[in-house]
Amino acid sequence: MAGVLGRFTGRVVSLTKNNVKQAQRKLSTLNLKDVSTSKKILYGSIGLVGTGGVVLLIGLERSVSAGDALAHPPHLPWSHSGWTNSLDHASIRRGYEVYKQVCAACHSMRFLAYRNLIGVSHTEAEAKAEAEETQVTDGPDDQGNMFERPGKLSDYFPNPYANEEAARAANNGAYPPDLSYIAAARHGGEDYLFHLLTGYEEAPAGLVLRDGQYYNPYFPGGAISMAQALYNEVIEYSDGTPATASQLAKDVSTFLRWCSEPEHDTRKQMAIKMMMIFPLLCAITYYMKRHYWSVLKSRKYAFKPPKY
Ligand code: HEC
Repeated sequence: MAGVLGRFTGRVVSLTKNNVKQAQRKLSTLNLKDVSTSKKILYGSIGLVGTGGVVLLIGLERSVSAGDALAHPPHLPWSHSGWTNSLDHASIRRGYEVYKQVCAACHSMRFLAYRNLIGVSHTEAEAKAEAEETQVTDGPDDQGNMFERPGKLSDYFPNPYANEEAARAANNGAYPPDLSYIAAARHGGEDYLFHLLTGYEEAPAGLVLRDGQYYNPYFPGGAISMAQALYNEVIEYSDGTPATASQLAKDVSTFLRWCSEPEHDTRKQMAIKMMMIFPLLCAITYYMKRHYWSVLKSRKYAFKPPKY
């Protein structure tokens, strides 16, 4: 079918003498010699102004950024960094323990429900037990009163404060941000989280910290209103892993990465499948293309000037 169509359209193509002369004239106008001097100057200055503008913009963008007094977190070799590496689920489970026993005193995690833990870090029975440890306000009941009940799998993680004002009042005016998506919300992701949690140090001479502020070079500006939360042995892991400060920070950072990106493992699994199927599809597509175009590509056009 494609062959018949190709041969038919091929016959329709014919050129006259005039067409060729026109084409030759067009080609000769593309020569740089024929461009007038004023136009050359115009194009030259447009190019200069354009390049200068771009350089100026980049320069301004850099100079205005307030990140100068900031320690950039170095990249750490996370076990989930590679293209095909899943998250370390034992680490997510330990990270949950750190969040629950340390961070949950100040930070909410309102987009995470207990049911989300099932199959990731806990079994269904374990997640249920975790939920039942909390008290949730529910209601109204038949009398119109709100009541407290133990948490269920469908409940979200409890908020440590009733509202933002209460949270600020308890933390010297600073608001502890919700941690559900913090790994995605901060430049550097889990590298930043790890270094923030382990990077507290003495403030350099000359830097005045206000009451309730601590020095952390990884926090923009250096003065953070969160005290160092992780120390060696501040909690005990249920799986017996030695709870050093860096282990705690690593586990809670992995947990927070999972919270920000619960589809992480599925995404990489899909990528592996795609990488296996894609070369096959490419090969088939290439073969089909060669097949369908073979008639058109192997044709020869010949121009025979008409005799006058
Ligand atoms: C005593 C309360 C308290 C505890 C416990 C606590 N934080 Fe914070 N956190 C805060 C406050 C207050 C801020 C806001 C700091 C600011 O804006 O200066 C904060 C800010 C943060 C930030 C945001 C930093 C940024 O870039 O804006 C992260 C991330 C964080 N905390 C993680 C954690 C983790 C993880 C834990 C548990 C290991 C934890 N925090 C424990 C009070 C706390």
